[in-house]
Amino acid sequence: MTRATGASTSLLITDVRLYGEGDPVDVRVVDGDIAEIGTGLAGADETVDGGGGVLLPGFVDLHTHLREPGREDTETIETGSAAAALGGYTAVFAMANTDPVADTAVLTDHVWRRGQAVGLVDVHPVGAVTVGLQGTQLAELGAMADGDAHVKMFSDDGKCVHDPLLMRRALEYARGLGVLIAQHAEEPRLTVGAIAHEGPNAARLGLAGWPRSAEESIVARDAILARDAGGRVHICHASTAGTVELLRWAKAQGIAITAEVTPHHLLLDDSRLATYDAVNKVNPPLREDSDCVALRAALAEGVIDCVATDHAPHAEQEKCCEFAAARPGMLGLQTALSVIAATMVADGALDWRGVARVMSERPAAIVGLPDQGRPIAVGEPANLTVVDPDATWTVDASALASRSANTPFDSMTLPARVVATVLRGRVTAIDGEVRAR
Ligand code: NCD
Ligand code: ZN
Ligand code: ZN
Ligand code: ZN
Repeated sequence: MTRATGASTSLLITDVRLYGEGDPVDVRVVDGDIAEIGTGLAGADETVDGGGGVLLPGFVDLHTHLREPGREDTETIETGSAAAALGGYTAVFAMANTDPVADTAVLTDHVWRRGQAVGLVDVHPVGAVTVGLQGTQLAELGAMADGDAHVKMFSDDGKCVHDPLLMRRALEYARGLGVLIAQHAEEPRLTVGAIAHEGPNAARLGLAGWPRSAEESIVARDAILARDAGGRVHICHASTAGTVELLRWAKAQGIAITAEVTPHHLLLDDSRLATYDAVNKVNPPLREDSDCVALRAALAEGVIDCVATDHAPHAEQEKCCEFAAARPGMLGLQTALSVIAATMVADGALDWRGVARVMSERPAAIVGLPDQGRPIAVGEPANLTVVDPDATWTVDASALASRSANTPFDSMTLPARVVATVLRGRVTAIDGEVRAR
């Protein structure tokens, strides 16, 4: 078939097992939507050979730091979008702790438009809850929600919305606007000077401790504030077994609370700190193995709703320095799927349909994205990820698309690989290369 200007475009994804189930099929995509699912399909403008791999809905990351504007030396919307596409993501939420802070519609609309211009992944800006992340005055949530970006999520991430009255007002206001407040749960009075999980390892290493109670006291408080405000609250990067029990309690009360867990909190514990390598410094800190075990079980069970990367690029000089002085944060976008495969799929805690739930469907539903996390079915938007479940690869920090290299997974050999990512019918990444528009 020849294609004239303005005519429809088609993509064929061959030899894939939907959600890793059943026999391999071919999927035809026309003008951005799934048009046909069957066997022996042929004839398209472009074909992606699925190689018998797993077809999943494109991943949605509720928690990404892209550092633009302000720290383009560590990540830009373009480099972060490339990392996201290579990681199998079709939508990411870019946190507001940029410089300047994304606390006005001018800023959030800029991030949205820049993401669309790059075209590798939908970059949804997260708006700040408080002006300048200062925790004293509510930002104009309504103006950001009404802008071109249609901001759906607000967070002071990096800092906790600590003042309970302000958090209450934010939840009430967000309820009226139909938007989500995402909380970085850290009681600041309990973490003054803290750099590592408070426990035997930090004591032995002489590192000031960040107690579980700093997270759990805010999770408990915010669950109660959300209950009384009739609003929704989302807990960022849940890291403790106690947080899991609080979420379980709150959900049993019918409180509209949701939570995410990062790949690094599922895989790594604070025994990694023995080398004093600040690549392992992160907020909240790596906890104990018992916390990892509880977080994995909670994710499998649905008490924790979804996976979010907390992709947090930092420059070499901010990481390769004394542990106390280093910035907290780790890269995550390009390794998330493989870490979930290692921690959840390998032992059967999640099957591939479960991966679709925690990496795509639940995050899209939590934030209310109508075109992401959809079923793989005729008539649905073609936001898709092809995964090779049998591949293994060795992470090379210097080879990642991110402008920074601060991954704790460097040199680790991990299972499963993203073969291709498709955004509204357009291939954005294939065989480890991004496809710019
Ligand atoms: C994040 C960052 O670097 O912006 N750092 C981190 O350790 N997670 C901030 C945050 O997510 O709290
Ligand atoms: Zn605008
Ligand atoms: Zn945070
Ligand atoms: Zn973060």
